[in-house]
Amino acid sequence: MTDTLDIKITKVNQSKLSTVNFDNLQFGKTFTDHMFTADYADGQWGNFQIVPYGDITFSPAMSSLHYGQTFFEGLKAFKHENGTVSIFRPDKNAERFNQSAERMCMPTLPVELFLESIATLVNLEKSWIPNQENSALYIRPFMFATDPFLGVAPSQTYKYMVLTCPVGAYFSKNLNVKIETEYSRASDGGYGFAKCAGNYGGAMYPSMLGLQQGFDQLIWTDAKDHQYIEEMGAANIMFLIDGKLITPTTRDTVLKGVTRDSVLTLAQQWGIPVEERRVSVSEIIEAAKNGKLTDAFGAGTAAGVASVIAITYSHQKYDLPNPENSEFTQKLSKTLLDIKYGRIADKNGWNLVV
Ligand code: PLP
Ligand code: COI
Repeated sequence: MTDTLDIKITKVNQSKLSTVNFDNLQFGKTFTDHMFTADYADGQWGNFQIVPYGDITFSPAMSSLHYGQTFFEGLKAFKHENGTVSIFRPDKNAERFNQSAERMCMPTLPVELFLESIATLVNLEKSWIPNQENSALYIRPFMFATDPFLGVAPSQTYKYMVLTCPVGAYFSKNLNVKIETEYSRASDGGYGFAKCAGNYGGAMYPSMLGLQQGFDQLIWTDAKDHQYIEEMGAANIMFLIDGKLITPTTRDTVLKGVTRDSVLTLAQQWGIPVEERRVSVSEIIEAAKNGKLTDAFGAGTAAGVASVIAITYSHQKYDLPNPENSEFTQKLSKTLLDIKYGRIADKNGWNLVV
């Protein structure tokens, strides 16, 4: 990448790197030494800086705190065996970042600014990228409204920031999940497709109830009748039924996942039949009952390929075959990691080398 932005870089005096135990990383708890920040005012972005990671102060009237004008992205950088560093499909996250911005009535960010802010920060924090299998540098770009104003109106000022965290695997086991039929994550005409904070805050209560009942994640269904499957927790959901890869279509209620797109692309390239369509709860349960549902998994940046081992619907639990024995899921998971770590050819041009 070539630099075009004028980014002022202020480095830490002393790196925290030597204090970090890379064999025991909890997702989102360890932050690198620096963060990127930019400000939006008078209709334009400016004040591009990389500064030491740390607290920031704002007015308690800051509008994002009151009315939720805030959203984020999530992507990862990987270190290859030869030391090369690449970021997985950041152009897709840039695109989705701006879709979220538009839905939340917030300013978009030029794609070059998104890519350069991330690439510059990742480059500076290269030594923080873990080497361990399944580990990466998680990149969290986000934007929030900063007007100190309690009127319910779009803010005139915003901040864009990027944080980076070394992370290990998000899930350490196969998932025992429930199809949720009481609460909803998103509704038609709403903002389920946007990666805005409210979608995650609103999901916490039903997820907590699920956890209390012993479920690792919830499979969300449509808000109207709870008859169609949408997503699973913070990941898209996919099913292998009778050798066909089936996943719900992305709509205004479903996040357009980058991992989802990558999985569908690979499956198509391998000649596996792929169906993107409305997926009913009844067909999944029917396929689970008659043994045709051989694989179910979540697909997401943090989650990776997260296998489901059991699905509960209407108090009835359906066990799935052990994903460790699934040729498809194992091949998929391995291929995605091999591409990200540069161990096999990146035929689709997904890695942005920084
Ligand atoms: N759905 C939701 C609600 C998510 O939070 C995520 C995570 O980003 C995904 C799906 C998967 O999207 P991606 O593969 O782009 O990370
Ligand atoms: C991601 O996979 O990037 C996500 O956004 C999940 C996150 C909410 C933990």
